[in-house]
Amino acid sequence: MTTRYRVEYALKTHRRDQLIEWIKGLLAVPFVLHSQPSAAYDERRRSVLAKMEIGAHRRYAEIMHDVEELINDHIEHQSRGTQGRSKLKHLVPSVGVFFTPLLLEEAFEFQDNRRKISSRRFVPPSFNDIRLTLNSAQLMSLTRNGSIDLVTFDGDVTLYDDGESLTNENPVIPRILKLLRQGTHIGIVTAAGYTDAIKYYGRLHGLLDAVAKAITDKEVADPKVIILGGESNYLFEFDFHAESFLKYVPRKTWMLDEMRSWQEEDIQSLLDLAEGALRECVGSMQLSAQILRKDRAVGIIPVPIPGKPKFNREQLEEIVLVTQQILDLSTPGKKVPFCAFNGGNDVFVDIGDKSYGVLSCQRYLGGIEGSKTLHVGDQFLSAGANDFKARLACTTAWIASPAETVALLDELHFHSEI
Ligand code: IMP
Ligand code: MG
Repeated sequence: MTTRYRVEYALKTHRRDQLIEWIKGLLAVPFVLHSQPSAAYDERRRSVLAKMEIGAHRRYAEIMHDVEELINDHIEHQSRGTQGRSKLKHLVPSVGVFFTPLLLEEAFEFQDNRRKISSRRFVPPSFNDIRLTLNSAQLMSLTRNGSIDLVTFDGDVTLYDDGESLTNENPVIPRILKLLRQGTHIGIVTAAGYTDAIKYYGRLHGLLDAVAKAITDKEVADPKVIILGGESNYLFEFDFHAESFLKYVPRKTWMLDEMRSWQEEDIQSLLDLAEGALRECVGSMQLSAQILRKDRAVGIIPVPIPGKPKFNREQLEEIVLVTQQILDLSTPGKKVPFCAFNGGNDVFVDIGDKSYGVLSCQRYLGGIEGSKTLHVGDQFLSAGANDFKARLACTTAWIASPAETVALLDELHFHSEI
């Protein structure tokens, strides 16, 4: 059903990444000019296709080179404090901070070799082609720049499937251990907000047990693994001698200065308002749902009714957008940062967001810079997504599944070794 409403809805900017869409638009022109959808009827098919591939590849690579230069120019503007006036900012007004240059032309060569983008006759360079090229470009820049001091990971969908746990056989574990052996610190910056170490152990035991074993086997000496839960609310540090291998670190010892100004009264008013908005959505959409209130978050989770689906995507997005709007317009919403996001099966409003989460990790680990930090996550749309804010703190990689995280870490190790 392609009604006008549906088209408008799909076009809403919150469902699009502006930089990726813009690059996609640039690549669409050579695709149209070089692709050969009629090659099947052509006797000279092989030579036509070879010519197409060479032509499209050259033009795509040139475009990536030009975008790379525009990003370099934007970075120069950043260092002069005039990033608002860069050409890239005029072309893509939503672009934010770049912590490193992006080796886009080389990354395109790498991904084209893997995905055969230039050989396609019917399917133009896609969102995923460009997302993965941006990831490769980021990894290449980081590894050429020297060491990566900190990699932070989101939890659900990034390390394990939505709502699952990081169990012993997860293939991400040996890749993370390899990072630890190289001296890279690991952070898990997740929305999942618990005050007890045992709960995090329950979600992450595969990794924590493996780190403990690596210490016993003398594979690593003093690995730094920290968890920042509730976006930026609860810090736990790996401790070989602690119960569940996790030690709680009191907030006042790691909080950023800015976070000290968040008044408890405003925090609770904000959560009251959020709870009211969520209840309103339950009523208006007649949802079978439960509201979960915590000291630093409030969420809505489905109460399954046999034979009936849980929340659907449109309902989840509606809940986020309604709640976000109510909080944006409110007085406490102007005093305390918050993050309203669609968790796939639930919606949560957390106090703070992942920019504070990553910045707190960097600070706790001795002042690591954004250009030496990589955050890996699955939620980078501008509304209703919680990894998006990490872009304010460090470089990022946007993955779509735990399998992609494994592939990303393999690629990271590959680029570090060449
Ligand atoms: P993430 O992908 O690791 O950031 O985890 C997001 C998921 O954690 C949400 O979708 C929820 O299912 C779950 N969760 C558990 N507790 C909280 C909380 O206090 N705030 C937000 N999400 C929570
Ligand atoms: Mg996630």
